[in-house]
Amino acid sequence: MVNNEIMPSLFGADIGNLQKEVMPLKDLGIEILHVDMMDGSFVPNIAFGPTQVADLKKILPFQFDVHMMVENPDKFIPQLVEAGVEYISIHQEATVHLLRGIQLIKQLGAKAGVVLNPGTPVESIKMVLDEIDYVLLMTVNPGLGGQKLYPPIYKKIAAMKELIGERPIDIQVDGGVNNENIKACAEAGANWFVVGSYMFSGNSAEKLASLENALN
Ligand code: DX5
Ligand code: ZN
Repeated sequence: MVNNEIMPSLFGADIGNLQKEVMPLKDLGIEILHVDMMDGSFVPNIAFGPTQVADLKKILPFQFDVHMMVENPDKFIPQLVEAGVEYISIHQEATVHLLRGIQLIKQLGAKAGVVLNPGTPVESIKMVLDEIDYVLLMTVNPGLGGQKLYPPIYKKIAAMKELIGERPIDIQVDGGVNNENIKACAEAGANWFVVGSYMFSGNSAEKLASLENALN
């Protein structure tokens, strides 16, 4: 933990062209793929239901980090774990029973994350910090790719880091992350970086190298 990880977001890729867009990432050292589930209610878009996640998991040689932008996420968590998903995050804003969802993910054997929208304060998850493996701080409003990172988020990342203290919790950022802002995210305290449109808007080897160079 607290190693830097760049996690390409499948939502940003051309899923009709997985062989060309996603498979080469394996040889570039990518280990974890970020996969967005959207229910059209919690967020104004629909993406990757549990059946598609299971199908993709069978053919893509990566660990999966499933970001559930779904109301009442508990009902889909067992299917995701059954499909072999290693990391599952649920939104604080999407469930009344946050602790129950976290416990379900962990009991079933996956790593548990909690996601906060940009407007949700870090203190809102203070009571569950001893239960989780990672926190995902949304750096845009969730539901769409290609948006611009919200600059006030840097202070929030730092506040999250401080609240976490010595706990072994990774801080993930998602939304608008690119080679120009990844270093500032890291300096504020993030160590997992989800990258969608930037990663898939050109040569992915070059994109990855520029992200890694920016981090070093
Ligand atoms: C947005 C999703 C992201 C999305 C990021 O709600 O959670 O994972 O794919 O895409 P970019 O990097 O283009 O903002
Ligand atoms: Zn995401």
